[in-house]
This record gives sequence, C-alpha cells and structure tokens, in this order.
Amino acid sequence: MAKKIILDCDPGHDDAIALLLAHGNPDIELVAVTTVVGNQTLEKVTRNALSVARIAGITGVPFAAGCPRPLVRAIETAPDIHGETGLDGPVLPEPTLELDRRHAVDLIIDTVMSHAPGEITLVPTAGLTNIALAARKEPRIVERVREVVLMGGGYHEGNWSAVAEFNIIIDPEAAHIVFNESWPVTMVGLDLTHQALATPEVAEKIAAVGTGPARFVGELLDFFGATYKEAQGFEHPPVHDPCAVAYVIDPSVMTVRRAPVDVELSGGLTLGMTVTDFRAPAPADCHTQVAVELDRERFWALVVDALERIGDVEA
Ligand code: BDR
Ligand code: CA
Repeated sequence: MAKKIILDCDPGHDDAIALLLAHGNPDIELVAVTTVVGNQTLEKVTRNALSVARIAGITGVPFAAGCPRPLVRAIETAPDIHGETGLDGPVLPEPTLELDRRHAVDLIIDTVMSHAPGEITLVPTAGLTNIALAARKEPRIVERVREVVLMGGGYHEGNWSAVAEFNIIIDPEAAHIVFNESWPVTMVGLDLTHQALATPEVAEKIAAVGTGPARFVGELLDFFGATYKEAQGFEHPPVHDPCAVAYVIDPSVMTVRRAPVDVELSGGLTLGMTVTDFRAPAPADCHTQVAVELDRERFWALVVDALERIGDVEA
C-alpha cells in the first residue's frame, strides 16, 4: 500500500523536485501539501507550490499556507540560492488550484487525526515552524504519526554557518521541539544530501524524459546550479529535499544510523547545530536516526522514473 505523506515545504528549487517525486512515485500518496516561510516569504513559496502543482498536474490534494515567520527569530530567506521569487529560472504558470482555507497547522492536525495511527508520515523539507506548532497545538499527533522524515541539519556539515543547516537555523526553537518529541525522526541532513549532486549526467537523463515537467526540472537545475556555484562553491548543486521523499519511498536507498540528535539553542558559534551523539550503543529510548550514505544511482533513477510516470501534463 502506498505510504501517505504530508509534504511541508518552502519551494524552493529542490522542494519543487521533491513535490514532483512524491506525486510521480506510485508508492507514495500525497495527502496534503503545506507551506512555511523559508526560502522566500510565505506568500511567495505558497504561490510557487501551487504553480508546481499545475506543472505536475496535481489535483485533489489540499494545499495550505502556514506560518509567515519563525517562532522566535526574525525571518531569514535564501535569495542567493533560490532567487527573488524563491523559484527563479523557469517561467511559472498562474496557479489553478485553490488554497485550502485552513491554516497549514490545522490541515496537518486534521489529516493526522482523521487517519489511523501510524498511517501518516510527515516529510518536512523546510523550517520546522508548522510541524512544531502542530505538535504543540494537538499533542496527540505525536504518537499518531508514523514517522517524521525531514530534510535538515547535518552531523558534520553546515551550510548557513560552519555547523548549522538552513532549515534548522532559520527556526532553531521549532527544530528543538521536533527533535525532542517522542516520534521517530529520520534526519536526512547535509551529510547525505551533499551526495545527491545534479551532475551533467543526471541532467542528461532528466532531459531525455522529454516532457514539460522534465524540462521544468532542467530549468530549475540550471538556475540552482549557477547559484550554488556562486554562493557556495559547488561544482554541481546538491538536490536536498527529494532525498527525504526517496527515503520514504524506499528506505534502502540510503544507509541510516541510530543516534540521539539535539538542537543547539544557546551556542554563540553553534546556534542551530544538530548535535549528533555517535557514542555506542545508542540508548534504548533513542528515537532519532541520521542518514549517512546515499545510493546515488537508485536515487536519481527514482526521480527520473517519477518524471516518466508524470508524463506530459495538460496545462
Ligand atoms: C535546505 O534549505 C533550503 O534552501 C532548501 O530548499 C533545502 O530544504 C538545504 O539546506
Ligand atoms: Ca526546502
């Protein structure tokens, strides 16, 4: 049976690809998409999510906008990576889907509570503001959710500071809540996603699909590749967010290691660091694990397969 997920995102080039992967893969059922301030303002990332829905031909899935700012900190966006719109590069179509009237936090709660325990997996690929608030507003979701598979953090690598990753550092208090709740958490962090590089060979395989959505991904990668080179010195861009979706589709696409993870809230130099304790053995009550090594070929094969299945979409 397909795994039901809620994708909580801030599109964002890699979020857009995560959305396409989730929509195109037959082992995933996308039951809701929620947005949160992150790569750009809430208004921009929400519009982007709806435009991507049109490009991908997603219908019948509720999309809801969530928090317009982090719990405590000032808003920090990523125009150097994602541009002024949050999804610079391709020309985006006007959205055709209407936003769900609920706040994202309520949509998350309603969805989890109206499904059987263990049915819904949360896949956050952005700051954790919505997820943290949902856990605070309706604590019963914590034991009802199957697991949280998030893109964020890293045990050795940072990108927004020497030791912190963007999705965590933009709302470290929210991340602290999410990592400290008792639900199972898989951290698909930078150590893993920096292995998911969109090399020219990958771009060729995507281009060979030859459809509108595949061309859209190609244009996303062109823009993302250029900004990643300029802002972060990467030869090829790391395509973070679909890695979390890929783990839900097929956990064997990466190796993971059980280890306690906590989020630094007070360090002067280490704010937002996902401090991972690799001392063995992991405590019996350890509910967190971190992604370590990616099977790159299989990961990209999943992305290409999803694009092939989506095919050409009538706009
Ligand atoms: C994460 O930050 C965002 O800019 C990307 O969309 C990804 O979720 C990578 O650090
Ligand atoms: Ca993201």
